[in-house]
Amino acid sequence: MRKVKTLGLLGTGVIGGGWAARALHFGIDVVAADVKPEMEEWIRGAVANAEPALARLTSAPLPPKGRLSFTTDLKAMAQQADFIQENIPEQLALKQRMLAEVSGHAASDVIIASSTSGLTPTDLQRDMVAAERFLVAHPFNPVYLLPLVELVGGEKTAPGTIDAAGRFFTFIGMHPLHVRREVPGHLTDRLQEALWREILHLVNDGVATTGELDESIVYGPGLRWAAMGTNMIYHLAGGESGMRHMLAQFGPCLKWPWTKLEAPELTDTLIDRMVEGTQAQAGGRSIRELERLRDDYLVAIQQVLRQYDIGAGATLRSLETRLYQDAAAAAAAQPPPPGQPLRLLDAVVRPEWVDYNRHMSDYRYAQVFGEAIDALFRRIGVDEAYRDTGRMYYTVENHLTHLGEAKVGEPLYVTAQLLGVDEKRLHVYQRMFRGRDGRQIAAAEQMFLHVDTAAAKAAPADAQVRAKLEALRAAHAALPPPAEAGRPVGRTRKA
Ligand SMILES: NC(=O)c1ccc[n+]([C@@H]2O[C@H](COP(=O)([O-])OP(=O)(O)OC[C@H]3O[C@@H](n4cnc5c(N)ncnc54)[C@H](O)[C@@H]3O)[C@@H](O)[C@H]2O)c1
Repeated sequence: MRKVKTLGLLGTGVIGGGWAARALHFGIDVVAADVKPEMEEWIRGAVANAEPALARLTSAPLPPKGRLSFTTDLKAMAQQADFIQENIPEQLALKQRMLAEVSGHAASDVIIASSTSGLTPTDLQRDMVAAERFLVAHPFNPVYLLPLVELVGGEKTAPGTIDAAGRFFTFIGMHPLHVRREVPGHLTDRLQEALWREILHLVNDGVATTGELDESIVYGPGLRWAAMGTNMIYHLAGGESGMRHMLAQFGPCLKWPWTKLEAPELTDTLIDRMVEGTQAQAGGRSIRELERLRDDYLVAIQQVLRQYDIGAGATLRSLETRLYQDAAAAAAAQPPPPGQPLRLLDAVVRPEWVDYNRHMSDYRYAQVFGEAIDALFRRIGVDEAYRDTGRMYYTVENHLTHLGEAKVGEPLYVTAQLLGVDEKRLHVYQRMFRGRDGRQIAAAEQMFLHVDTAAAKAAPADAQVRAKLEALRAAHAALPPPAEAGRPVGRTRKA
């Protein structure tokens, strides 16, 4: 497959907007096509709306954002795109017609994917030109935050198409799940649909309200599902003997009337109960407000799962590893800029970083300086592979000075100046700036000691690491020493 620099979107509603936000954030240009010209304003709004949550997803270094353009000319979109994602309404005949048309305009090595929630790829690719480059790539709303994308090939799909599409989706931070056999609804929507049909029955029969049914998930299984899904959780439900015991214990229930999979008739009464119930739950909050709340907790959950390297957190962690590697490789390919401190980190003040004043809490300054130093370490080759050899830098002194405040959502950046390097020690002066006005809000003077952890003592750094540090030190030699460097705690600051 060709390298994807430009993603073409066919249909720019809820899902098209989500794809645009995700792709742009990870540096891919987007050409969005819709029949309705007014969708240009809509998609630009959707991208802007997604940005605050996306900006907090990771502080790993990102490539420059992609550029968004809009057209009502499907052919123009197809001719510019390296990969096309279709997101028009869920109607087989319409999708077949539009996929056939777009495939006639796109070069034959351009992969074309459909976001369809449940139509099968063999049906969709029926009239396409070069149908072997077609697959279903089913995302989940909000596409910019949920990593899952189900990949399904049809009878004419080439196996290489699935692999190549999977690589592209991984590149933009997703978790491709290959659905090996086409079934209506793929995997996830079949599971969601089973639960949904049961919900409709319980509301229809007057057993529970929409709010009570949501409580039954939110306070219990919903928390378990995010990391382990249903099967692993049931494995744990069987105690020491796991799934076998679980099936022996609860197997008989399968014959009991615990579920009705046929959906009930959607009568006006049922529709009213569903609508009034969810309106009551929303409690006057608008869809936009609720979306912001949802996005904030989706970001926070993924960050927690990252700590455990599980589920969507594992996807986030491997995305970050790649972003750090790319940034370190790009930095290593460029000599350090002479006479300028090194810009190590760009970050945004997250909601959970602020205190009762809505200002960044003091310990978060130490965290940001810590993340910046990690970026320096990666740059000089002290990365995971190096640490696996039992060697790393330990922090032995840290003098942090607060000079100003940062509010929630504010961009920050950190620079570093190397003050001294020898075979075991590294002396660094970091400055933190507020992006809004370029004002310095903190400084950290730090001393690090290179340690051999097995021997539990200081040891010389690797020659290559030393060489990179020396090159940085040379680039900083002409910089004036920071006036505050070496200042004891409590002494009045120099003017
Ligand atoms: N909404 C979801 O939660 C969700 C989740 C996953 C997948 N999907 C799937 O994604 C697809 C799109 O869903 P959506 O919710 O974004 O729908 P939507 O109604 O929000 O957007 C559809 C867009 O397609 C445009 N369109 C219609 N005909 C067109 C044509 N011939 N050429 C170009 N544009 C055209 C419409 O103007 C509209 O902007 C569907 O197949 C749906 O099943 C939806």
